[in-house]
Amino acid sequence: MVETRETEGPRTVLVGVTGGIAAYKSAEIVRSLIKEGLHVHVVMTRNAQEFITPLTLQVLSGNPVWTDTFHLTREQEIGHISLVDRAGLFLVAPATANVLGKVASGVADDLLTTMVCAANRIPVIFAPSMNVNMYENPITQGNIRKLKRLGYGFVEPAEGDLACGYQGVGRLADPQEIVERVLSRLCVKDLAGETILVTAGPTEEAIDPVRFITNPSSGKMGYAIARAAAQRGAKVVLVSGPTGCAPPLDVSLVRVRSAEEMRKAVMKAFPPATVVVMAAAVSDFRPAVRSRHKVKKHDASLTIRMEPTPDILFELGKRKEQRILIGFAAETRSLVKNASEKLAKKNLDLIVANDVSRKEIGFQSDSNQVKLIGKDGNVSALPFLPKRILAHRVLDQIGMLRKKPAKGSRRGG
Ligand code: PMT
Repeated sequence: MVETRETEGPRTVLVGVTGGIAAYKSAEIVRSLIKEGLHVHVVMTRNAQEFITPLTLQVLSGNPVWTDTFHLTREQEIGHISLVDRAGLFLVAPATANVLGKVASGVADDLLTTMVCAANRIPVIFAPSMNVNMYENPITQGNIRKLKRLGYGFVEPAEGDLACGYQGVGRLADPQEIVERVLSRLCVKDLAGETILVTAGPTEEAIDPVRFITNPSSGKMGYAIARAAAQRGAKVVLVSGPTGCAPPLDVSLVRVRSAEEMRKAVMKAFPPATVVVMAAAVSDFRPAVRSRHKVKKHDASLTIRMEPTPDILFELGKRKEQRILIGFAAETRSLVKNASEKLAKKNLDLIVANDVSRKEIGFQSDSNQVKLIGKDGNVSALPFLPKRILAHRVLDQIGMLRKKPAKGSRRGG
């Protein structure tokens, strides 16, 4: 694949790989960054190539891998310094004690350290990985302190079994955490100052100690919103029903089970919130009586009397004051009409209407297609989008609802 200038800019990430056993994990990092829609260029030290081949990272990144300082044709075509200038961020993962020492001392004796030295105008993040004794060595610690003081970012190494047989701090941080840090650093913090309360997932309404009524919500939509809001600088509280989703970085997560528990958690987090986004699929009904013991199987059919659960969003609508309230509507017919009625009844600023009768969107899918309905009756249909992108589109509405120009969504987004 040939490098083109159109693929460069803030959404381009340079990944520097140095020579440690964790170098193989750079493959997962590069793959995940590409999946997030970023352009990735890789630069490797000679030692890194002993652990993972440039070919692997070339195939995954879709770009030639940089290894030589004095590459005749490439230098003529693009130049490694100008590539640094046009990137949005430089990640060095894994970063060895050696490379940290070199950068801290201003040494630029190979392509990677030369490029880091030239990366004055973009954020540089190191994800260290090394033997625990090397990590704890006062010289390494001094270099890390110096680099932090100078504004270099770090994804701290984890503690555990190390490849060298030792135990302690020095394992490369989880690749997904590293990717999340990169995404967060690339985001414009246009939601700084907002406190956003998000709900996600289903609720479970107990019939007896072993049975419950629920719905197919996976939590993906709500978690995507919480993650995007945190990346954009908001303080985020996520109240979540039972899901298998990984907790997003920098989000305060409150786990609940039933609609009543969700109501309590939401009401507690509500006072400081400036925005609420209710993406949870809250059960509308629950068994009127919860049996203390497992209901015995009888030959006769079982009748369960149901009662309505509290309508959390309706309650918030009555107390909203200056807050922005965003609801979701899960509909199987008359999408706009039914969603608009919910918007009015619950005193919302915006409702995100999705047609959950379609298998490829709504519940459980990684993508969704929605209509945004404003309280002025304006309906805007969004295209089929991954939930992680849709989350940003929904959050873009906050700036518009505040009637101040939104400063843009994701950088280059
Ligand atoms: O979790 P996923 O698998 O990613 O699926 C995403 C989703 C389909 C769950 C999501 O996109 C969605 O549509 N969430 C809202 C589901 C829902 O409960 O819709 P509703 O039309 O029944 O409720 C309208 C609004 O009132 C919702 O914001 C809901 O959170 C809220 N509500 C509903 C009932 C209730 N007792 N209290 C509430 O606050």
